[in-house]
Amino acid sequence: MIPGLDSPVRRGVSPLRATHRIRAMSYYERHIFFCLNQRDNGEACCAQHAAQASFEHCKARVKAEKLNGAGRVRVNRAGCLDRCAAGPVAVVYPEAVWYTYVDQHDIDEIVDSHLKCGLVVQRLLLAADVGR
Ligand code: FES
Repeated sequence: MIPGLDSPVRRGVSPLRATHRIRAMSYYERHIFFCLNQRDNGEACCAQHAAQASFEHCKARVKAEKLNGAGRVRVNRAGCLDRCAAGPVAVVYPEAVWYTYVDQHDIDEIVDSHLKCGLVVQRLLLAADVGR
């Protein structure tokens, strides 16, 4: 339940309808966060896997496709998302879909499929049990 909102069930609103209403208030349709964390102690981190270049490529692609801006897509940098073992990682909201990627081709597929069309790129999904 989201703080500040009454329980949709208690008010007789189905959770699906409540979710739809919440999404309608969202400033962006989709938000993708790239972990760009750098560790200097030798532990695994996304910065070791060209995360910065992939973030910049995603940002440029989203802008070139005119997907950026209010009501559309926002690309953001993030610190450690605590899923370092499968890095580099990115997560797309509101679907909360976690990806791992290798190169700019993978980023292009996330942009073209998920960010543009809402279709999850199954082959890039992060395993559910991967943590730090
Ligand atoms: S360093 Fe990227 S998820 Fe932790």
